Amino acid sequence: MAFVDAYGPWAVVTGASSGIGREMAIDLASRGLNIAVIARRTKRLEALAGELEAAHGIETRVVTADLATDDGVQRVAALADELPVGLLVNNAGISAPFVPFHELPLETISQMSRLNMLAPATLMHVYLKPMLARRRGGIINVASTAAYQPMPLMANYAATKAYLLNLGDAVAQEVASHGIDLVTLCPGPTETEIVGHVGLDTDGAMQKMLMPADRVARQAIDALGRRRIVIPGLTNKVSAIMAQRLVPRGWITRMIHATLRRTLAKDAGDAS
Ligand SMILES: NC(=O)c1ccc[n+]([C@@H]2O[C@H](COP(=O)([O-])OP(=O)(O)OC[C@H]3O[C@@H](n4cnc5c(N)ncnc54)[C@H](OP(=O)(O)O)[C@@H]3O)[C@@H](O)[C@H]2O)c1
Repeated sequence: MAFVDAYGPWAVVTGASSGIGREMAIDLASRGLNIAVIARRTKRLEALAGELEAAHGIETRVVTADLATDDGVQRVAALADELPVGLLVNNAGISAPFVPFHELPLETISQMSRLNMLAPATLMHVYLKPMLARRRGGIINVASTAAYQPMPLMANYAATKAYLLNLGDAVAQEVASHGIDLVTLCPGPTETEIVGHVGLDTDGAMQKMLMPADRVARQAIDALGRRRIVIPGLTNKVSAIMAQRLVPRGWITRMIHATLRRTLAKDAGDAS
C-alpha cells in the first residue's frame, strides 16, 4: 500500500516546533501527508507550516497547545473529530537538568510526567478509535534509550520514557491484527535543543555522540509496518541491549550514577 493510503491523509505531530518533531513533519510532508503541527511556540509552527505547504503542496494545520495541561491535550484530541488522521506522532517531551530526584522541583516532576506520559497516552487512546474503525493507521511514540535502565540524576525522565516504551509496545501487540502499526522510537543523544537543557558540556565529548535529528526521524518513519522498536545508531543499540539483557541492573545503575557524577563534577570544575 502507498504511504499516503496507509498512514494518510493527515498526520498529527506533537513537538513540531524544533528537533526530532520538526524533522518528522518535514519528512512526512515530503511523503505527501497533510500535517497538523503542535507545540507552544506558534511562530515557529506557522513558519514551518508555510515551508511545508510551499515545498510539498500539502495542507497544514497549526495548533498551539501546552500538552502538560488538560486544556492543551483536549485541544489536540479535538482534532480527531475534524480531520481524518492516519498517523499520530507523540514526540513532544522534556527533560531536566541532571540533579538528584529530591532536588527536582515538584512542579517539574508534575509537568514532565504529564507531558511525557499522560499526554501521549491520552492522544493514543483518542486517535486509535477512528484508526481501528478504518482498520488502518500508525502511531510513532518517541521514548528514549533512557527507557532501558534506571538513570540516577535523571530518574524521573528515564522513568517516564520506560512507561512510554512499555505502554507502546504492549499496545502495538494489541492493535497489530487490526491493521495499525505502532513504532516506539528510542533515540540516544540527538542534536536538538533538549541537549542544551540538561546541562552537560564535557569538552565536546557529548557533541561527538549526537546523531542528526533528520536521520533519527527518518528511521522511525521507515520502520512503520516493519518494526515496533527503533533504536537509531549502533552504539545506542548495543547499550540498550546490554542494559536490558546482559548487565545486572544494580551494576548498570551504579555505573551510570558514577559516570554522570564524574562528568558533572568535571563540568563544574571547568566552569569555575
Ligand atoms: N535529543 C535527544 O538527545 C533525545 C534523546 C532521546 C529522546 N528524545 C526525545 O525526543 C523528543 C523530542 O525532543 P527533541 O530532542 O527534538 O528536543 P526539542 O528540540 O527540545 O523538542 C521538544 C519539542 O517538544 C515541544 N514541547 C516541549 N514542551 C511542550 C509542552 N508543554 N507542550 C507542547 N509541546 C511541548 C517543544 O515545543 P515548544 O517549546 O514550542 O512547546 C519542541 O517542539 C522528546 O520526547 C525527547 O524526550 C530526545
